[in-house]
Amino acid sequence: MKQFKITLADGERSFLVQEGEAILTAALRQGVMLPYSCKNGTCGSCKGKVLQGEVHYPFHPPLALERTDYAASNALMCQAEPLEDLIIQVREIEAVRDIEIRMLPARVAEKSQLSPSVVRLRLKLPKNQRLQFLAGQYVDVLLKGGKRRAFSIASCPSLEDEIELHIRHVEGGDFTGYVFDTLQELDIIRFEGPLGNFFVRNDQPERPMIMVGGGTGFAPLKSMIENLLEQGDRREIHLYWGARQSEELYLDALPQQWAKQYPHIHYQQAVSEEDHSPDGYFAGLVHQAVVADHPDLSAFDVYMSGPPAMIDAARSAFLKQGLDVDRLYYDSFEFGLDVPVRVLARPH
Ligand SMILES: Cc1cc2nc3c(=O)[nH]c(=O)nc-3n(C[C@H](O)[C@H](O)[C@H](O)COP(=O)(O)OP(=O)(O)OC[C@H]3O[C@@H](n4cnc5c(N)ncnc54)[C@H](O)[C@@H]3O)c2cc1C
Ligand code: FES
Repeated sequence: MKQFKITLADGERSFLVQEGEAILTAALRQGVMLPYSCKNGTCGSCKGKVLQGEVHYPFHPPLALERTDYAASNALMCQAEPLEDLIIQVREIEAVRDIEIRMLPARVAEKSQLSPSVVRLRLKLPKNQRLQFLAGQYVDVLLKGGKRRAFSIASCPSLEDEIELHIRHVEGGDFTGYVFDTLQELDIIRFEGPLGNFFVRNDQPERPMIMVGGGTGFAPLKSMIENLLEQGDRREIHLYWGARQSEELYLDALPQQWAKQYPHIHYQQAVSEEDHSPDGYFAGLVHQAVVADHPDLSAFDVYMSGPPAMIDAARSAFLKQGLDVDRLYYDSFEFGLDVPVRVLARPH
């Protein structure tokens, strides 16, 4: 099959597009993050300039392209297909500031129990809406009275018309209590996102990664790993997933499968409050499992997410083991912003 080389004018990046494939589809498949939103030619988010070469729109002229755009050699990358090799000028997404933050309603397409304390929600976006995000980012679920609750996106960014969340039940929690007791499939949830700076850094792709999740802290790591696998990125990943009881490792079979299938993925469970854990599980806190395996962390990039106590303990332990503070990235699952105020206001 014929393919065309597309070179980005502002950088040294290039990628290949198969004949009959849209430029945006090919770019995303090869890990080149170009901006987009609707992917059907109506919003204009993916607009760029063709500096050299020719494109065409085999189905219909896209709505978001005006006559002046044609004259200015502008193209909609979600619809345009190359007729020859191209040089294009389009803003590549290199950081979260390049991604549009949006407020969207979503329908609960699935609510399923992953463990006694964790549910998976699959939220379907409205027709023709897509959420562009970097694997690892989170959304704020919007509640009545301006309150919001943060949840990491567990699904891969390539699955753009829905997102998956893993929600742990918090004892006495307003929103998580509502999710467990009341929320039903087909209900609508509003959220804002994507948010946060937790995403895989690609500036030194030769460095091996350690990923550490506590409880539902597995969610953003799942998104990151699925995304890396999809992009054919084969850098070494050492995944550690910790909980108090082994039943709280609610998708344990999934990373086990990754480790079996991919030689560059290694997986270790850690369980801190159980007398008889399954064979091979580390007995203790998850950061202790990391330190036991890697006394020298200076060569690693470390990504971690989970409860604040885990993040604090792991951070200080890892820095003592030589981890470069600039190569440590984390999301600490703190309370919603209104909660500390409420807790402090309680009579003692
Ligand atoms: C960036 C980020 C990403 C997050 N991602 C996820 C995720 O993917 N999955 C997930 O399950 N959670 C995640 N969280 C945590 C989640 O936001 C909170 O658990 C949630 O806000 C609790 O809401 P609630 O309304 O049920 O509880 P609230 O009504 O807000 O709190 C009720 C009481 O529960 C306690 N509490 C509240 N939150 C916590 C907590 N996190 N840990 C311990 N005790 C708490 C407090 O004592 C509080 O008084 C994330 C948090 C952040 C900041
Ligand atoms: S992404 Fe909306 S027009 Fe291309």
